[in-house]
Amino acid sequence: MSIAYLNGAWQPVEETSIPVLDRGFLFGDGVYEVIPAYSGKPFRLKEHLQRLDRNLAAIRIDMPLTQEEWKTIIERLIEDQGPLDQALYLQVTRGVAPRRDHAFPAGVKPTVFAMTNPLPEPDPDRDRQGYAAITVSDERWNNCHIKAITLLANLLARQEAIDTGAQEAIFIRDGKAVEGAASNLFIVSDRLLITPPRSRQLLPGITRDFVLELAADQGIPFAEAEIPVGELEKADEIWVTSSIKEILPIVSLNGKPVGSGKPGTGWLQMHELFELGKERFRHGDDHE
Ligand code: PDD
Repeated sequence: MSIAYLNGAWQPVEETSIPVLDRGFLFGDGVYEVIPAYSGKPFRLKEHLQRLDRNLAAIRIDMPLTQEEWKTIIERLIEDQGPLDQALYLQVTRGVAPRRDHAFPAGVKPTVFAMTNPLPEPDPDRDRQGYAAITVSDERWNNCHIKAITLLANLLARQEAIDTGAQEAIFIRDGKAVEGAASNLFIVSDRLLITPPRSRQLLPGITRDFVLELAADQGIPFAEAEIPVGELEKADEIWVTSSIKEILPIVSLNGKPVGSGKPGTGWLQMHELFELGKERFRHGDDHE
């Protein structure tokens, strides 16, 4: 049983609970982060905490902890799990109000929660097979750049994918592919790597940035450009990225093969670069 942090106290996660008047429970009034840790080191911690800071400001909650306090919590979570690769989860809600009311309560302290889970074991055979995705209409709000805990539209999209035997759903808005239910989107088209530009319609993923950095370092041509649905459908490769899934090759879209129907050479190259980057991070001394 792993431990969890809640408002200054540590307990086994299964025994950790919040009052029903917590606004996270009643309204989904909060934001979160998922941070991968490799060999006991949180990856891109500064960037994740900066995103949390921006998201809290966007929903008008004051940052409840300092960077040092977050780091102390994260270190303890990691210590508890050992050097196993894990996904740290941080959540801040507006707190427990005296009664259910849409208006922000005055003088309420945010609820701060943190836990950790093992990252899924790498499965190279499964990766070589590739994954399936479907497209779904993007019914979400216009603030998808905020990592809000309010994820109902994402959950419905992901479940629709699962119900059809696929693993991810790709949101289509105004005729353009924007991102996955819990991932960012890349395509390779005529050897050009393309991902939609940052906007209010997608989460600025930390993994997305890492992939773009790797592409820039290696001289892989890339563009941050919109992806009309027609381009998605005729892409040579489709990838989705996230802190948990890293880079997944999508080889089937709405039941039709993507490119050759196998993970492409672009994915193979980026996957290798990503693995090398991770290895360097595991053995280097930077904690960023
Ligand atoms: N989700 N877009 C959405 C909608 C996401 O939920 C996520 C990640 C991403 C990728 O962001 P990052 O590379 O920073 O993980 C993009 C996390 C993993 C989750 O909800 O569990």
